[in-house]
Amino acid sequence: MANGVDAGLLVRVDRYIEELLVPPDAALQKGLADAAAAGLPDIAVSPNEGKLLYLVARLARPGRILEIGTLGGYSTTWLARALEPAGRLVTLEIDPLHAEVARRNLKRAGVGDRVEVRVGPAARTLRAMLEAREPPFDVVFIDADKEGYPEYLDLTLRLSRAGTVIMADNLIRGGRVLNRGSTDPDVRGVRAFNARLGTEPRLDSIILPVMRDRLDGLSISLVRA
Ligand code: SAH
Ligand code: DHB
Ligand code: MG
Repeated sequence: MANGVDAGLLVRVDRYIEELLVPPDAALQKGLADAAAAGLPDIAVSPNEGKLLYLVARLARPGRILEIGTLGGYSTTWLARALEPAGRLVTLEIDPLHAEVARRNLKRAGVGDRVEVRVGPAARTLRAMLEAREPPFDVVFIDADKEGYPEYLDLTLRLSRAGTVIMADNLIRGGRVLNRGSTDPDVRGVRAFNARLGTEPRLDSIILPVMRDRLDGLSISLVRA
């Protein structure tokens, strides 16, 4: 029991859903194995969360998707598969090794020609995109450093339009976000982000609990007209 939740039960239920609804995928599995072999941390979204990202994105019939935090391209692949035929995905990553592993994995998954990995600190890249007056994105997934989340939300809103769907990972952190006095910069960043979801008049939002090795959360927000 952690925070009053039987974690073992949540893990078994997550596995039950995955066995029913998320069949094993050779390209995704090889990508995770290659990322591990290259020394990348084991922190990609779960198969069930990847399927959820794909489905929510698909509902938006997206021509342009933005991801902040690429790692080895696991969530990127799920999202890229939701693109409309001529659609494009831009994913932002600070670590050149992660970007290199991701490009290889995306190519193997057959989405390499639809995805552009931009290397650098995400806030800087996003500001450059604003200056270049890039067209708005249809779907955005925020999943980089947790301290940066409030700033990523601000910049993302400026790269959005009415109807853009914005999602963000890791909003519950095993329940650590319940600690309002936390001095952990990650928890503080996520708590500030979650508070913004509640007060931002341009957004209609919810946070869903999602399970990986522990309880975490994914937000889904719709940018209002
Ligand atoms: N979305 C991925 C997981 C991302 S993990 C998936 O689910 O498959 C977070 C990633 O954000 C890491 O690769 C890390 O290097 C990257 N990151 C951390 N700080 C960053 C920053 N300031 N700008 C861009 N990327 C950053
Ligand atoms: C962690 C998990 C994530 O999904 C992520 O994007 C970053 C870090 C973690 O468990 O540390
Ligand atoms: Mg994450």
